[in-house]
Amino acid sequence: MSTNIKISPSILSADFSKLGEEIISLDKAGADYIHVDVMDGHFVPNITIGPEIIKKLRPVTKKIFDVHLMIEPVDKYIKDFADAGADIITFHPEATPSTEETIELIKKFNKKVGISLKPKSDISLIEKYLEKIDLILIMSVEPGFAGQKFMPDVLPKLKKLKEIITEKKLKVDLEIDGGINFENCKTAINAGANVLVSGSTIFKQNNGDLKKNISLLRSS
Ligand code: DX5
Ligand code: ZN
Repeated sequence: MSTNIKISPSILSADFSKLGEEIISLDKAGADYIHVDVMDGHFVPNITIGPEIIKKLRPVTKKIFDVHLMIEPVDKYIKDFADAGADIITFHPEATPSTEETIELIKKFNKKVGISLKPKSDISLIEKYLEKIDLILIMSVEPGFAGQKFMPDVLPKLKKLKEIITEKKLKVDLEIDGGINFENCKTAINAGANVLVSGSTIFKQNNGDLKKNISLLRSS
């Protein structure tokens, strides 16, 4: 039985012609966060949305905007995402010359700081920053596209991070992102995840019944 699991639906699988309505529906369906995947066609092969769209979406909900930046460079855009209304700003350490400076920059705008690890990225990339951040986003697919298959090889990394965080008594959320479904969400939670991102499962399963899909993921 899991306690305090947060669900962060990825709007990458929403109908982009009516994003505002989709977010209102996610809000009503019980989402905790709204996961916004920002891709630049450079750090990852796909291109999605930027700060202007986030700014337009901001008034439709009070939910936390969990903004996952898959862009390089990243520092020059932090202010734009902060001003647009992001609440959590997550970046990839490979996308910045100084992880430390990017953390400080996000904090300067009073935003929560997340760092993301791609499936092959090692814990050593973030270990010395754990005291300074709010969230670790563990990618369980290669970043770039929704609808990919969950990679169970990332679970040992998740477990290890959970151990380190528990041992150091840190308040760092562990978010898992990519290919999460009604089966593997249990494994991810058991390995230590407390925030689940999901695009395809939430928008496509059970004929797109958002409420049902969110509660099925949460109650795992
Ligand atoms: C991938 C994104 C994920 C992804 C989630 O680069 O970061 O947020 O879109 O979608 P599903 O749940 O379909 O894998
Ligand atoms: Zn994401």
